[in-house]
Amino acid sequence: MLKLLSPAKINLFLRIVNKRPDGYHNLSSLFQTIDLADTLSFEFHSTDILTCTDAELSVDANNLVLKALRLFRQKTGFSKNLKIHLEKKIPMQAGLGGGSSNAATTLWALNQLSNLEISNQQLGEWGAEIGSDVAFFLSCGTAYCTGRGEIIQEINTLPSQSLWIVKPAINQSTPAVFKQLKVSTEAETNQDLEAILTQKFAYFNDLEKPVFEINPALNELKHYLYSCGFKTVLLCGSGSSFFCLGSGQLPLSDDITVYKANFINRTQACWYQSNY
Ligand code: C5P
Repeated sequence: MLKLLSPAKINLFLRIVNKRPDGYHNLSSLFQTIDLADTLSFEFHSTDILTCTDAELSVDANNLVLKALRLFRQKTGFSKNLKIHLEKKIPMQAGLGGGSSNAATTLWALNQLSNLEISNQQLGEWGAEIGSDVAFFLSCGTAYCTGRGEIIQEINTLPSQSLWIVKPAINQSTPAVFKQLKVSTEAETNQDLEAILTQKFAYFNDLEKPVFEINPALNELKHYLYSCGFKTVLLCGSGSSFFCLGSGQLPLSDDITVYKANFINRTQACWYQSNY
């Protein structure tokens, strides 16, 4: 059996550059994996079966794990059947990329199990056919991402940081956020890369505005988290969760779940390893 971590991501900054003729948005973003992670187990079996600890997640053909399996088969001719178990810890519709991470982890696992030695770059290009964030999860965990998110430039590991992920009961659908977004001007994105390389980038997320228009309660939550003492509070991707840096009084509410996390990275040759 092959058992692998499937980490979440946060966007340390997320700039929306413009809207494209194909309906997607070009973005400029610094992505970082964190050790809030699902676990995926793979073993050969007589038929394909996907099981999951979270009954709310459908395990039918729309699940990104099975989409990744189908894609890998189409690309390589791999024909073995698998039993796959997903232990879900990453909250869903939270902007943490859990589904995309599961797809990337599945591609990595299939590459191992088939002994085909397909490059990370190739797996990432295939993964982008499933979702814009999948390619990032085949990087080493810190990357500057452009295009619709699938053009990856690896960045040296950043200084380790611990953070809190705060997930309210509200869920947020990504397409709804992009639909609400009104893109104004095209930004100077190449300065973003320079800011990363000199470690002088600012934390911001252009998706906060449309998300707060859809859900004003999330704007209130952001202000509340600042009042708890955190130095930085930023929406994760398209929401609904926030990441908080610095120290603060953690919110105690039945409607809010809080997760402690750290940045996590991997080497080219190995998959993500648990820090515990
Ligand atoms: O690529 P993915 O399936 O994750 O995207 C989900 C939705 O988010 C897309 O259908 C699109 O509406 C929106 N999106 C976008 N621009 C991006 C990424 C996603 O408009 N760069």
